[in-house]
Amino acid sequence: MSTPDSQIAYWDTAAATKTFTHPLHLPWLDGISRHAAVLDYGCGYGRTMAELEQHGFGNLLGADTSPAMIKRAQHLHPTMHFTTLSEPPALPSPHAEFDAVLLFAVLTCVPADESQHRLITELNRILKPGGILYVSDLLLQDDERNRRRYSKYATGHGSYGVFETGDGAVCRHHSREWLTILLAGFEVLSSRTIVVPTMNGHESTGIQILVRKPTAT
Ligand SMILES: C[S@@+](CC[C@H](N)C(=O)[O-])C[C@H]1O[C@@H](n2cnc3c(N)ncnc32)[C@H](O)[C@@H]1O
Repeated sequence: MSTPDSQIAYWDTAAATKTFTHPLHLPWLDGISRHAAVLDYGCGYGRTMAELEQHGFGNLLGADTSPAMIKRAQHLHPTMHFTTLSEPPALPSPHAEFDAVLLFAVLTCVPADESQHRLITELNRILKPGGILYVSDLLLQDDERNRRRYSKYATGHGSYGVFETGDGAVCRHHSREWLTILLAGFEVLSSRTIVVPTMNGHESTGIQILVRKPTAT
């Protein structure tokens, strides 16, 4: 079975019903100018963008593959800027356009190793040297229910931690080692473990990682 890069039909349906929960740790943004250009990749219905705006950030762009999610975002936040991505992860932005990028609960929706590498490479391209990437995602869980579904789908989907949800999505939980490999081109500034309710109502352990694009390569 293949692992899709983008599951638009699922996320279009989810746009009507789901609530997302990964918390924004504002102290990590203290050093960033309120005029900084910030991209929220996989912005959903604009939840974290609204929080950023409340805290003074004024130059925000949200990007998502789901037209219904972007429609909900535009309805909730009519003055904010959103774009629908037709060929993910490609962004309609020049090199080094953004000072900061948020990637909140998106890796979990892009299960394959190669797809995640392509996404991080694209985010690296549009970040300025010295720019910040703030990743929030789910770790491998060690409870029986999750271990059973990781084993069940590991062969079909390639990587341990990929699984199918009961409502039709293919998702991924990550080892810390994998995230270290994925973000190897960046300088790690901070990381923290979080506990979040998932969109399907289970409590899961996640990780937030703040990294910086090197200023010289
Ligand atoms: C779990 S939601 C998180 C939304 C938002 N970041 C938040 O935390 O509130 C994941 C979002 O990623 C979007 N998405 C899934 N695959 C994507 C891809 N390949 N490129 C861009 N967005 C994607 C979905 O449409 C959905 O809106």
